[in-house]
Amino acid sequence: MPAINMFNELAITLNDQIQAVNPVAYEMLSALGKRIYFPSKGILSQSGEAKTLAKKFNATIGTALKDHQAMSLPCVMDSLPGFSPNEALLYAPSYGQKPLREAWKAKILHDNPSLATVPFSLPVVTNGLTQALALAGDLLLDPGDHVLIPNMLWDNYLLNYSDRLQADLRHWEFFQGDRLNTMAFAQALEGYMPGQKVFVILNFPNNPTGYTPLESEAQALADTLLATAERGVRVVALIDDAYYGLFFDPACIKESLFCKVAGKSRNLLAIKADAATKECYVWGLRTGFLSFAIGGAEADSPLFTALEAKATGLVRATISNCSALSQKIITNALTSGKFYEQRAANVAIMHERCSAVMQTLTEHPEYREHFVAYPFNSGYFMCIKVLKTSTTKLRRLLLDKYATGGIAMSDTDFRLAFSCVEKEQIPELFKTIYQACKDLA
Ligand SMILES: Cc1ncc(COP(=O)(O)O)c(C=O)c1O
Repeated sequence: MPAINMFNELAITLNDQIQAVNPVAYEMLSALGKRIYFPSKGILSQSGEAKTLAKKFNATIGTALKDHQAMSLPCVMDSLPGFSPNEALLYAPSYGQKPLREAWKAKILHDNPSLATVPFSLPVVTNGLTQALALAGDLLLDPGDHVLIPNMLWDNYLLNYSDRLQADLRHWEFFQGDRLNTMAFAQALEGYMPGQKVFVILNFPNNPTGYTPLESEAQALADTLLATAERGVRVVALIDDAYYGLFFDPACIKESLFCKVAGKSRNLLAIKADAATKECYVWGLRTGFLSFAIGGAEADSPLFTALEAKATGLVRATISNCSALSQKIITNALTSGKFYEQRAANVAIMHERCSAVMQTLTEHPEYREHFVAYPFNSGYFMCIKVLKTSTTKLRRLLLDKYATGGIAMSDTDFRLAFSCVEKEQIPELFKTIYQACKDLA
């Protein structure tokens, strides 16, 4: 780590801001997290100043303008009816467009009423949820730091935190029978000592299992995190809400797990990583968000401003800013007055597909000779445990003989995305898998 006097003065100011509110938050940062800052005195701020003051000639910005509009090609604008060249083509701020950041925060509060009185930062816009997760890692993980993660997980966590950032990934057994193994989670955190840091990732609805905890299970997870933090362990709780809203069981939680831990301990930094990607059905528009909460930080705390600036410094350094057009489209959707109704219509379709999977499995007990389902009640996916062959062989045969695709997550676990299969096709999908398993047995 560089000596303190090698830090840029802007980084030092941000670090001071964080330390003044909660020194533990500063201690949790990685070496890069401590070093990074948003270059608020560079080209961006000079351009910003010129935007208001340089009324005669503004020669600051690296874009091409003509008649006060972005210079454009008609063959580009032909694809964008309804957008002016300025709206569609100019750069967005590295933080993200303010109207979108505010609209997303309003959406978070609408979906999570218990956050109404909880101080948390204004979301920083990222290039999809993947980048939000990557930035959280950059800010908080040094090589060798522990990341606690279930044994059933989205494989990109491995690429990001293990291969890219060289963190030490520790797993806990996700299920015990048909319930979440909250005991295994508690045991995994037991061994941490006061002053140690642990970076915990929780993702519900879960990829790959399609499981969201019941209220009691979610409370057990949150209680464990808070008790660990209160023992003096420095806990980063990264809540990945990729599939938020796709809840199909009245007994499972309907608010993000972020609500149960945000702002509740000075030793627990809660990070909400979420995205329009799946929540607004706009996968390729690549728009995600990163928000922070920690005990001791009030609304509009300088600590939040500093963490936002650090996250944005990483955006600036890596991709400079996210698509302005995507941000504008999503802001329009969120403020259209139609978002919640249209979202509910899609959730209803996904719910029907999930129910069709459950019904198919109930109606065909014979399938259990070859595969059993792990618990599922939400999201895009469900997993089966294959009993008499390997998932590698099953996957191959399904493709080659039955023109059917699924994902081999491990030797035994096979993931099926009911999100992209029509309800009517679901019985046949499972019949096909059963047939392929019988072929291989
Ligand atoms: C659990 C989880 N987190 C994050 C992501 C990334 O989402 P995005 O496409 O917004 O990068 C995915 C996408 O598959 C996911 O399954």
